[in-house]
Amino acid sequence: MVLADFSVNSGAVFSEAIGNDRLDLLTDYPFTRLANLLAPITPRANVAPILLTVGEPQHTPPAIIEETLRASAAGWNRYPPVGGTPEFRAAAGDWLTRRYDLPAGLLHADSSVLPLSGTREALFMLALLAVPTRKAGRQPAVLMPNPFYAPYEGAAVMAGAEPVFLSATRETGFLPDLDALTPELLERTALFYLCTPANPQGAAAAPAYLAKAIGLARQYGFVLAVDECYAEIWLDAPPAGALQVAAGLPQADGKPWANLLVFHSLSKRSSAAGLRSGFVAGDPALIGRFSRLRSYGCAGMPLPIMAASTALWRDEAHVEENRAAYRAKFAAAEAELGGRYGYSRPAGGFFLWLEVGNGEEAAKRLWAEGAIRVLPGAYLSRSNPGEPNPGDAFIRVALVQDTDTVAQACASIVRILG
Ligand SMILES: Cc1ncc(COP(=O)(O)O)c(C=O)c1O
Repeated sequence: MVLADFSVNSGAVFSEAIGNDRLDLLTDYPFTRLANLLAPITPRANVAPILLTVGEPQHTPPAIIEETLRASAAGWNRYPPVGGTPEFRAAAGDWLTRRYDLPAGLLHADSSVLPLSGTREALFMLALLAVPTRKAGRQPAVLMPNPFYAPYEGAAVMAGAEPVFLSATRETGFLPDLDALTPELLERTALFYLCTPANPQGAAAAPAYLAKAIGLARQYGFVLAVDECYAEIWLDAPPAGALQVAAGLPQADGKPWANLLVFHSLSKRSSAAGLRSGFVAGDPALIGRFSRLRSYGCAGMPLPIMAASTALWRDEAHVEENRAAYRAKFAAAEAELGGRYGYSRPAGGFFLWLEVGNGEEAAKRLWAEGAIRVLPGAYLSRSNPGEPNPGDAFIRVALVQDTDTVAQACASIVRILG
């Protein structure tokens, strides 16, 4: 621990970082880096900015939320139970069973589902659950796709593990190549984050791919965390889910979800990022340990929010409307982009992952010349020694605004970047 050099004369000045020095291994969060990149640039006057950076859907949230919150207002004065209400767990469990066509009764919601105040903090906290002090006598590894959702890396580093970035490029179908993982690495792997449909590329893992990942988790004794928060934003066919695949595998010892956790969120499914609502489901042994850990370190989901979330997981109409809106936006984007920048229609999610040569330069030009804010791909990925950063040449464009705005932004991207 480095002690603070506190100088009274110059105010609270710390000559060196105090506290947990693992934090210094992390870069600023991607949106902070973007703010710093674009701060010196003033977009051309009289152009309304179009913000396509954060994956925060701008669709009107379903009326169910307000109605249920009002009806459950009596719950605001109660501390919520970490494990949630039986109604919430049942709604989440029933939704998983319907969405993934699980055999009736296979998923026991009371032991296999935990509510989360958004999935981000739980994806982060998962590393505290999954990473032991040593694995196979060495520093544990946490595997993740590259590019990746930033909290995976933060979680690995803060838990004292080595983050291992697995290239997920066009050549590997935008998912990590599971066949390239060596036994040496797998033996010390404590946790593997997968994201399907992937943020940012939108690739969906096929059932055989998920089956292989589950098999590796069981063979090498690590936790497989499948982040399925874009599972409901798909274009042509609903992507497979890890529980669905696990249900179809031989269950020699009657533990269909062993080593597996899936994460689901209402932020994208229900355009309700501000509700902070999701859940984790899977291996009851892990869920039980997660519940214990969360009792120490987490705020439970407030009861009115739990009631609104319960109602949302039971409703599909608003989700279908949402999906139709994204389809229209992808169609509008495709019409403008016309296959430029290596674009091909993703399986799911709501991002364009465009190869533009130099992502940072493109983001600066788009802001300066078109007041369009996009994220350089490099801020979502890392370079491994001797390899280029797989995000360097890309920008991520979040289709979170309405269709006309998306069309206008894509037309401007083509005009500015050529
Ligand atoms: C891949 C991925 N996982 C998880 C999340 C977190 O979602 P939330 O915390 O809103 O549930 C996001 C949000 O952008 C995401 O892109």
